[in-house]
Amino acid sequence: MRGEPAAGGERMSAVLAERVRALPHAGACDTALVLLGTGVVGGAFLKLLDAPAATTLRLVGAANSRRQSTDPARLAERRLRERLRIEGDARDDATLLDALDASGAARRVIVDATASDEIAARHAVWLRAGYHVVTANKAAIGDGLAAWNALASARHAGGAGYGDAATVGAGLPILSSVRRLAACGDRVLAIEGVFSGSLSWLFGRYDGTQPFSRLLAEARARGYTEPDPRTDLSGADVARKLLVLARSAGFALEAHDVVVDDLVPSHLRDCPLEEFLSRAHELDAPLAARHAEAVATGSVLRHLARFSSGGLAEVGLRQVPGDHPAAHLGGTDNLFALTTTRYRERPLVIQGPGAGAEVTAQALLGDVLALASPGA
Ligand SMILES: NC(=O)c1ccc[n+]([C@@H]2O[C@H](COP(=O)([O-])OP(=O)(O)OC[C@H]3O[C@@H](n4cnc5c(N)ncnc54)[C@H](OP(=O)(O)O)[C@@H]3O)[C@@H](O)[C@H]2O)c1
Repeated sequence: MRGEPAAGGERMSAVLAERVRALPHAGACDTALVLLGTGVVGGAFLKLLDAPAATTLRLVGAANSRRQSTDPARLAERRLRERLRIEGDARDDATLLDALDASGAARRVIVDATASDEIAARHAVWLRAGYHVVTANKAAIGDGLAAWNALASARHAGGAGYGDAATVGAGLPILSSVRRLAACGDRVLAIEGVFSGSLSWLFGRYDGTQPFSRLLAEARARGYTEPDPRTDLSGADVARKLLVLARSAGFALEAHDVVVDDLVPSHLRDCPLEEFLSRAHELDAPLAARHAEAVATGSVLRHLARFSSGGLAEVGLRQVPGDHPAAHLGGTDNLFALTTTRYRERPLVIQGPGAGAEVTAQALLGDVLALASPGA
């Protein structure tokens, strides 16, 4: 049969190929985007905008903490991220929103790839005004229950979507799975596992042969940690993920309900980031002692989070035996074990890389594209 090469290298008939072309493109309607944050995740998101999957998306504004641009010529530059570091207009959210409004696009989307509390505090305002928000920043949804409820009512009032897939498990389909189970009436009884890619990498590597602070510096250089690594080490980031998961499963958990084991010594908790980084070696001795205790009992250290519908919510470093599933994680793997009324005998397990620029950016892109087909 005569045919033409298809994307996968196979051949298809000319008639079939014509029918495929005639199919309406799922994302044919147009979406305008503003990107906040051009760091590790935002930079990877910009690269994904060049991919064929993103052809229906139009970037109309981009910003870092100090500069921004709404100039189409500058936004089209491959080195936009680098250029914004040295030049651009002064930061002003109103101008970015104006660019979205002027786009005439069917959907106006703000993508939050920052770790900023200030930006997160605006999510509800933007939703209420009808802008969709897609976020890797969990500062709003992982905060108090009042902020969570405010987001829900703002979404409803503005008829806007809130894409939060990237906030837990980076690119793993964990939040969508939890929500789908809940929608089907499958009650979550427990969620446990390793929720931090950076802590998974750190404690998977830490065997006492090199100082913990050296590994921490490497994790930071690889882009695995939060901009301030104390957000990881304090357990705050994992506690926020636990809250987001439990709330998505239908439990009205408050931040103070989570018991958190903070790995940052109290005297280093509030100092400036640069000072903390220069004194990170002060973490070494206490962690070496905990490591030695674990080794003495034939265990390994893993950073675990646990929630149970019976009232348990805790986050911290634990000794686990060698046959525990968390003992065998590699790289930045996350592990989420969901015990539900229908997965009661054996949990539903989702595991895979839980940090990394590309997979996190892909989760953002997936949420943006999903806005075009909300029922899909
Ligand atoms: N890295 C990961 O693997 C991963 C995985 C899942 C989720 N996340 C989440 O993704 C978010 C970004 O993480 P990242 O690793 O990309 O951090 P990052 O490299 O430090 O980048 C943060 C970016 O946000 C910008 N920013 C800060 N305040 C801003 C503001 N008010 N307006 C506009 N931009 C602002 C920063 O600007 P400057 O460049 O001027 O400082 C920077 O470009 C965080 O919320 C993190 O929790 C990260």
